[in-house]
Amino acid sequence: MTARLIDGKAFAADLRARVKAEVAAMRAKGITPGLAVVLVGEDPASQVYVRSKGRMTREVGMNSFEHRLPAETPQADLLTLIGRLNADPAVNGILVQLPLPGHMDQSAILDAVDPAKDVDGFHVLNVGRLAAGQKAMVPCTPLGCLMLLRDQLGDLAGRNALVIGRSNIVGKPMAQLLLRDNATVTVAHSRTANLPDLCRRADIVVAAVGHARFVKGDWIKPGATVIDVGINRTDDRLVGDVDSDAARQVAGAITPVPGGVGPMTIACLLANTLTAAARANG
Ligand code: GUN
Repeated sequence: MTARLIDGKAFAADLRARVKAEVAAMRAKGITPGLAVVLVGEDPASQVYVRSKGRMTREVGMNSFEHRLPAETPQADLLTLIGRLNADPAVNGILVQLPLPGHMDQSAILDAVDPAKDVDGFHVLNVGRLAAGQKAMVPCTPLGCLMLLRDQLGDLAGRNALVIGRSNIVGKPMAQLLLRDNATVTVAHSRTANLPDLCRRADIVVAAVGHARFVKGDWIKPGATVIDVGINRTDDRLVGDVDSDAARQVAGAITPVPGGVGPMTIACLLANTLTAAARANG
C-alpha cells in the first residue's frame, strides 16, 4: 500500500480564502480585524515564522501589528506592552512568539494576555476551558491537525488515537481535541514503555516529539492516518518526526513535511483572529 498524501498546503489555502471572504464582509461594515505579534529576541526560526505570519495576516485583509523587542528586554516592559495591546480595540488577537528568552517567566507572560484575544490558546483560562469541554480559543497547530483528521476520516468517534509528545503547544491540546471528538486517546512521551507496540494499535498517530524520523515505518498500523507535526532541519532538508519513506508504504494517509501541518498553523491563527474579532464586535 502507498499512503495518500494529505495536502495541508491546499487545505490551508482554502481555509485562508474563507477567512479572507469573511474579513471582506467585516470590512464592509467598517471593522478590520487586527493581529498583534510580539517577538522578543532574534531566534532565526522565530523571525521566519513572524515574518510569514505578518504577510499572511495582510493577505487576508487584516491589520498586522508587529512588535520586535531586544532579547534583554525586562519582563516588566513586555507586560506593559501586552497591557497596551489588551486595551487597544484595533487589536483582536495577540500572539507572543515562543520561545521567550530565559530570564522571562513564560506562564506569567502568556497569562497576561486577555483570554479573549489569546489566539494561541495558551492562557491558562483557555487551557482549562478546553479541558472542561467549554468554548475556548484552541491552539493553532493541534486545531489544524484536527481539521485534517476530520477531513480524512469524518467521524473520529471510537478510533484509537496515539499522540506522541506532551507539550502544552501541541501534545496536550491535541489529546483534548481528540477526546472532545470521542476518539480513544493515548498520550505517549519520552518515558513511555513499548511505544512501538502502542503505535501499532493506533488508527491515528499524531507525532509531535521534535526528533527527526523518530517514528519508524514498522510501528505504523496498516491503513492508519499519520499526522507528522515535526519540522526538523537535517543537513540537506526538512524532515518530520516520522520516517516518512517507510511509513508511506504502510499508512493509509500521511501528511508530508513540508506542506502538511505547517501551513495549517498560520491558517488556524487567522481563523482564531477572525473568531476573536467577530466576538469583540458581535
Ligand atoms: N513557537 C512555536 N510554535 C508556536 C506557536 O504556535 N505559537 C507561538 N506563540 N509560538 C510558537
